[in-house]
Amino acid sequence: MKAIGTDMHSHLVPGVDDGSPDLQTSLSFIEQLQELGLRRLITTPHIMTELYPNSPQTLAVPFEQLKNAALPVHLAAEYYMDEQFPARMEKPLLTLGGERVLVEISFTSEPFQLHSWLFDLQTKGYRPVLAHPERYGYFHHRPETYRDIRSRGVDLQVNLLSFTGYYGRQVQQAAWWLAEQQLVDLIGTDLHHHRHLRAITAIGDDKKLVKFLMEYPFRNNDL
Ligand SMILES: [Fe+2]
Repeated sequence: MKAIGTDMHSHLVPGVDDGSPDLQTSLSFIEQLQELGLRRLITTPHIMTELYPNSPQTLAVPFEQLKNAALPVHLAAEYYMDEQFPARMEKPLLTLGGERVLVEISFTSEPFQLHSWLFDLQTKGYRPVLAHPERYGYFHHRPETYRDIRSRGVDLQVNLLSFTGYYGRQVQQAAWWLAEQQLVDLIGTDLHHHRHLRAITAIGDDKKLVKFLMEYPFRNNDL
């Protein structure tokens, strides 16, 4: 995990989404990520209408509690792109640093407005980073879509655990395909809970994956 340096996708702000439920859990997760060799974290609570109605304002206080954590933590967000997203874009968005904004989309069907939302985001001066593209099953039978999205100036962020098969065989195949095609820009833990952390810790025993993580030119340290 040393080569990755900065993790740029996690749910460690206590009690604001389906990630860490309390401060003690967050601090213990951060300590364990430090032991795995990470040096800096960008944490990305969900911002999703109704389910997780977070905003830069509501996140500020719970995030403050992480200031004495074992690693430096920067606050960003994982924005769910739906019909409410264009309105949300009117106010300043939380970025991964610089102009990059982490976005996710429905797992069940490709939003027909996907390209227009990504384009609008770029028009506002942001650089979209699509979270876990390998997990959107509807892309699996037309992988050229990945190249198309990326050629429009969108970064692709694969989840670390997708390479292990944690999310199933199809997702695993898509992750390795993206890596073989050199289409992966960023890698993130997407850490929510203990099961994730256990699976991440077990990666140390997977020689092939460790070698890949050491050698692949992820851009995490540009953030
Ligand atoms: Fe996430």
